[in-house]
Amino acid sequence: ATERTLSIIKPDATKRNITGKIIDKFESAGLRVVAQKRIHLSDAQAGDFYAVHKERPFYGDLVSFMTSGPVVVQVLEGEDAIAKNREVMGATNPSEAAAGTIRAEFAESIEANSVHGSDAPETAAEEIKFFFSDDEIVG
Ligand code: CMP
Repeated sequence: ATERTLSIIKPDATKRNITGKIIDKFESAGLRVVAQKRIHLSDAQAGDFYAVHKERPFYGDLVSFMTSGPVVVQVLEGEDAIAKNREVMGATNPSEAAAGTIRAEFAESIEANSVHGSDAPETAAEEIKFFFSDDEIVG
């Protein structure tokens, strides 16, 4: 089925000016960018967005990293978009990511791993709402 998922191109990637290379990977896999904005997350926004990880030992570092520079947040649309996006991103830890995936090619570390993508339909809906109003999404 056609789905939408939330993608974030992280500060390590905006810093290296490789957002286009990453978007090319999504588009080449058949995903369409139907909403997009470049923003600098506040501490509160990054903390809320990753609230599910609040108890994890890496939470503080994750929030600092995600606020360390601009990010590009996007809604990607396509057939099985959630799974397809996860496939194109590759494993969270770049040392485990399959060849040709975004994280294998571009990620610097498990933290500076270039991209975030929603992991399930419910989280995709929540994460899209977190950043975009309905009229900002143009399919
Ligand atoms: P992301 O998909 O954005 O969701 C949470 C992020 O935490 C994850 O990608 C990683 O970049 C980051 N992270 C940092 N350390 C770890 C870790 N040890 N295990 C899982 N995620 C981590």
